[in-house]
Amino acid sequence: MKKILQLVLVQFTALLCTAQMSVHQLRTENTINPIGIDAAQPRFSWQLASTKRNALQTAYEIIVTAPAISKSGIWKSGKIKSDSSVMVAYKGLPLQSSTTYHWQVRVWDNDNKPTAFSEKAIFETALLHTTDWKASWIEPGYEEDTILRPSPLLRKEFIVSKKIKSATAYITAHGMYEAQINGKRIGDAYLTPGWTTYPKRLQYQTYNITDLLANGNNAIAVTLGSGWYRGTIGFVHNKNFYGKDIALLLQVNITYTDGSTAIIATDDSWKSNTGAIQYSEIYNGETIDARLEKKGWALPNYNDKNWGTVKVSKHTKHNLIATQNELVKKQEKFKPLKIITTPAGEKVIDFGQNLVGWVVVKVKGNKGDTITLSHAEVLDKAGNFYTENLREAKAQNKYILAGGTQEIFEPHFTWQGFRYIKVEGIAGALNPADFEAVALYSNMEKTGTFTTDNVLINQLQHNIEWGQRGNFIDIPTDCPQRDERLGWTGDAQAFSRTATFNMNVNNFFAKWLQDVEAEQIDGVVPHVIPNVLGAGGNSAGWSDAATIAPWNMYLAYGDKQLLQRQYNSMKAYIESISKVTQQNLWVTGWHFGDWLFYKPNDDLDGSAAVTDKFLIAQCFYAHSTQLLINAATVLGNMDDVKKYSELLATIKNAFNKEYVTANGRLVSGTQTAYVLALNFDMLPDEQRMQAAQRLADNVAKYGNHLTTGFLGTPYICHVLTRFGFIDVAYKLLLQETYPSWLYPVKMGATTIWERWDGQKPDSTFQTAGMNSFNHYAYGAIGDWLYREVAGLDTYEDGVGYKHIKVKPHIGGNFTKVNAALKTYYGNTSAGWAIENDKIIISVVVPPNTYATIFLPAANSSDVKENGMALSAMKDIKIMDRQGEYVVVQTGAGNYNFTIAKGASAQNSIKLTDYVGVYNTSGGMVKSIEIKLKDNKLIATLFGNNGGLDAVKNEKDIFTSADGSRVTFTRNTNGEVVSVKLQSLGIGYEGVKK
Ligand code: BGC
Repeated sequence: MKKILQLVLVQFTALLCTAQMSVHQLRTENTINPIGIDAAQPRFSWQLASTKRNALQTAYEIIVTAPAISKSGIWKSGKIKSDSSVMVAYKGLPLQSSTTYHWQVRVWDNDNKPTAFSEKAIFETALLHTTDWKASWIEPGYEEDTILRPSPLLRKEFIVSKKIKSATAYITAHGMYEAQINGKRIGDAYLTPGWTTYPKRLQYQTYNITDLLANGNNAIAVTLGSGWYRGTIGFVHNKNFYGKDIALLLQVNITYTDGSTAIIATDDSWKSNTGAIQYSEIYNGETIDARLEKKGWALPNYNDKNWGTVKVSKHTKHNLIATQNELVKKQEKFKPLKIITTPAGEKVIDFGQNLVGWVVVKVKGNKGDTITLSHAEVLDKAGNFYTENLREAKAQNKYILAGGTQEIFEPHFTWQGFRYIKVEGIAGALNPADFEAVALYSNMEKTGTFTTDNVLINQLQHNIEWGQRGNFIDIPTDCPQRDERLGWTGDAQAFSRTATFNMNVNNFFAKWLQDVEAEQIDGVVPHVIPNVLGAGGNSAGWSDAATIAPWNMYLAYGDKQLLQRQYNSMKAYIESISKVTQQNLWVTGWHFGDWLFYKPNDDLDGSAAVTDKFLIAQCFYAHSTQLLINAATVLGNMDDVKKYSELLATIKNAFNKEYVTANGRLVSGTQTAYVLALNFDMLPDEQRMQAAQRLADNVAKYGNHLTTGFLGTPYICHVLTRFGFIDVAYKLLLQETYPSWLYPVKMGATTIWERWDGQKPDSTFQTAGMNSFNHYAYGAIGDWLYREVAGLDTYEDGVGYKHIKVKPHIGGNFTKVNAALKTYYGNTSAGWAIENDKIIISVVVPPNTYATIFLPAANSSDVKENGMALSAMKDIKIMDRQGEYVVVQTGAGNYNFTIAKGASAQNSIKLTDYVGVYNTSGGMVKSIEIKLKDNKLIATLFGNNGGLDAVKNEKDIFTSADGSRVTFTRNTNGEVVSVKLQSLGIGYEGVKK
C-alpha cells in the first residue's frame, strides 16, 4: 500500500513538473559547459521546457559564481524584464584566467511566475593574457631528415607529490600535435590545433587532465606533425608555407588540494627524438614504421638519456587565441560493406559511403611486412580502383609491422576522402573484421533532419549531409581528397545557409570568418581562407563569403555579435570593389564566373550556359551591398545605411543600363543570369515577372534541366518559388537525368559531386583534373528543401527562429515531407502529409518563440486544428489570407492542422483571378474559353479547344483533354499578369491587358 502511495506521489510530482516551466540546456558561447574560452563577456543561452501552449519568458535572472575566487558571487543580474533567452551577455566583474565559473538562470513565465533556478552550468576561462603563458616554444634539438621529415617526439617527466585538485593543459603547435600523459591520450580531438591564419591567429586547446595525472612520477609526451603549417599545401604544392620548423607550446597548470599551484611547461628541459611516424603529409598520407617505435616513451621512468635536447625558440605568443569552434573528432564508423577483387586483381574494400577520415587496421605479421592502403572515391567503368582524380595527392597510408603480436595501425596527421581502399601487403583473403573506416570532422551538433516519402530525395539529403561532414574539417573545404582541401570562399558561401540546417555551424563560421577578415588586404578577400594561394582575390561570388556567410549566421542563430565583429570586414570588402568600378560597373579583375555551368562537348547550337562574368559580378556587388545595409540596420549604423543605400541604387541603375534590354531581356540569356538578377532584386518591379517567365521558359527549353554552375544553383529554386513557378522548381528537383541533382543519386552517389556529370551515364569519368566526388557546393539546394518544400524558416524580424515561418509548398508528388531543426530555443519542426482526402500540416513551435504558419486552404473554416475549428482556438490568431494560403499566428506548442483537400486553395480556383483578355504574339492563335469541369468560364484564351482542368495541388496550372498545359503567371502582388500555353511542344504566350 505504502509503495502504491509512493508511486502515485511520484507520478503526481512528475505531472506537476511537466506542467510547470523549467529551464535547461544552458549554453555559454553556444556550447554546453565549455572549457578554455577567452570571450570577455561570454554569452549565455538557455531553453525553456513547458507543455503549455504560448509559453513565454517575460523576465530572467542570472547568477554567476566562482567558488575558487569569490565567496560572495561574481554577478547577479537581478530580475531583468526581457524575453531574451539566447546569447545574453555576461555583465559582471572582469573574468579571470583559468577559472571555473558556475551559472544558473531562472525565468518568469507569461503569468509572471518564476521558475526554479536551473541546474548549474559551468564555463572555464582560458589564458586571458599573454603573460599567463609561462611556457616557451620548443623545437626538436636533433638534426632533421629534411626529405621525409619524420614526426618529432617531445617528452618530459615530472613529479606530483601532493594531492591534485585540478590540472589543466593548454597546448598548441606550429604543425599538428597529439599529446599523452602517462601513455593516455589527452582529449579526443584530432588535427589540432586546427587551421587559422597562423601569423595572426593561432588557436590553443584547453584540456582538463586532472584524472590523467598520478601521484609520483608522470610523463608528458607529444608527437608533432607537419600539418598545414609546413606540409605540402595548395595545388601549387607550397611547402613550409608558414615556416620550416614545427614547434610545441604546452603548459599544465596544477592546483593542489592545499591551494598551492605548480606549472609544468615546455622549456629547455624537454627531450626530443623521432619514432614510428616516418612521414606524414595531409595530401600524401602517413608512413608508420612500427619497428622504430620508442616503446614506452610516453610512460614515466622511460630512459631518454640518449634523446636529443630541444631548441627554445622565440616565436610570438601574441597571436594565441583560445579555440572557438568545435574540434575535429571521430564520428561515424563503418565496417566493410564488400570485399572485392577487381578485374585488375586488386584487393579492394568498399565501405559503402564516401567519407572523410581514415581506416584503422588490425594486423598480425612478420617484422618488416609492409601494408599499403590506397584510397579512392570511385571504381572505374571496368570496376578497377580509380585515383586519377586525386591529382597529385598520393592518399596512401603505409604500415611497416614490428612483427609478432597483433598490431593496430592508425594514422595521425593526415586524412583521406574515400569510399574504397586498396589493400596491399596482406597475403590471402582480407578479414572484414580487421578494417574499420572512421569519419572525422568538426564535432558540430547535428541539428536538422529533412525527410520525405521519396527515397531519391532522401538520398539527396543524405548526400548533402555527407558533403558537409566530409568538408567541415576545422575549416570549410572545397573537397577532401585531392591536392586541394582549401577554404574556397565561393563554395563556403554557397553552402553556408544549407549548412546551418544540418548542423550547428555557428562557432565554426564565427571562427573562419575572423580568418576571412585577418586575410583581407585593403578589403580584398582572397580566394581561399586561410590564404595559401598568395595575392589576388575579389572574385564575384567567392569574395562575397565576407558578407553572405555572416548574414546567414545572423539569420540562423541570431548571432548579432558575429555580425558586429564582421562589420568592418564587410564594409572594407564593399569599399574594395567601389574603388575599382567604372561608372559604377564592376568590370575589372579575375572572376571564376558561374563555375562548372552546363557546357555540352560539341556545342553546335550554342547550348552552353555561359553567363557574362561581369553581369554576375554586378549582381553580387549589389547583393553584398544590400547585406551590408542589412547589417548596418541591425547594428544601428544609420549613416552607413544611407550611404550604402545610395550606392546600391547606382549599382542597380548601372546594371540595368548595361545588361538589360528595353524589353527586359538580359544580355546573357542563361538560367544563372535570370536567377541572380531576380534573387538580388536587380530589375525594376515591373520587369520581374517577365524575367521570371523567361527563366521558367529557359528551364523548359533544356527539358527541365539545370544549366547553372556554382553561383546560380543555390538560388534557382528559390527564385522559381518566389515568382510562382513552384511546379518548375519541383520539376528541376525531381529531374533524374543530367544535369540535375538526382542524376548523381541515380548513379549511386553517396555524397554531392563537384560536377553534374562527374561520372557519365556510360560510367566514364569527367576530366580527372577537376572531378571531386565530394564537393558540397551543389548541395546548396538543401536550404530550399527545408525552407520551401517543408517550409521551415526564420523571419528576419525574429532571427534565429525566434519568429518561425512555416510555409509549405505542397507538390512534387510528395505525400509526406518533414523538416526538424534544433534551434537555440528548442526543437522546431514543420511537416506536411497528404492522407486520403486531407492535407495534414504539423508544426512544433518551441517555448519563447512564435510562428506564422501558412495553411494551404481557401478559407479558415476549412481548417481544423486537433479536430477543432480554427475559430474556436483562442491561442491561434487568424491573419489575412495570402495567395493560396490562410495565414495564422501561434505561440509555442505542437499544432496539427487538417485541411480537407478539396478545400485547398490550389484546387478551388478564384475565377476572377483569371478573367481577362490576353494579347498573344503570332502563331495559330484563336481565342478559346477556359472552363472548369462544371462549365464555369474562367478566361477567354487562344490556340486550343475545350475546357480545362485545374492541375491538382498546383496553383494556376490547367490541362486540357489533348494534354496541352495552360499556366498563368502572377506578379509579386499575386495578380495574374500573363498566360502561357504549351501544346505539342510549341509555346504561346499572352500578356493580360
Ligand atoms: C575548387 C572549387 C573552387 C574553384 C575556384 C577549385 O579547384 O575545388 O571548388 O571554388 O577551384 O573556381
